[in-house]
Amino acid sequence: MSEGLTVSAGTKEEKYQELIPQLEAVVSCETDVIANMANMASMLHETFGFWWTGFYRVVDDMLVLGPFQGPLACTRIRKGKGVCGTAWASGETVVVPDVEQFPGHIACSSESRSEIVVPVFKGSAIVAVLDIDSRELSTFDETDRKYLEKAVTLLSS
Ligand code: SME
Repeated sequence: MSEGLTVSAGTKEEKYQELIPQLEAVVSCETDVIANMANMASMLHETFGFWWTGFYRVVDDMLVLGPFQGPLACTRIRKGKGVCGTAWASGETVVVPDVEQFPGHIACSSESRSEIVVPVFKGSAIVAVLDIDSRELSTFDETDRKYLEKAVTLLSS
């Protein structure tokens, strides 16, 4: 088990490069996917100081709130609705520079300004999405997409 999270100051890319092996170490010690989602949400949240970091799991025909860090959030999202439901329906990561410009964005918190949602696959099925919100505009870019897509593969390996 890791001694704790150690990510030094640096560029976003450098932080992800330090964080991914630590996520791998933590997740590889545990088989329960909810426990692993909980630690992954915590480690991402602590490293980058996001506003909200968490998972919605696919349960029957809805996304249901899973492990997260940050303020109270809505508990259920339908397929195709909001940023999360769009990522689920399309099977692709959605990067939203300004949530006010995203039609149908679901505002769980009025503080949220930008967002990224990454589908979590098990085989060819989407089993969850990772959702991260920022209080600043345009927080997320291709670097986040690349490393967060890599991070969530750790949940299904
Ligand atoms: N904004 C999301 C809803 C979830 S909260 O951000 C935690 C959406 O539009 O799907």
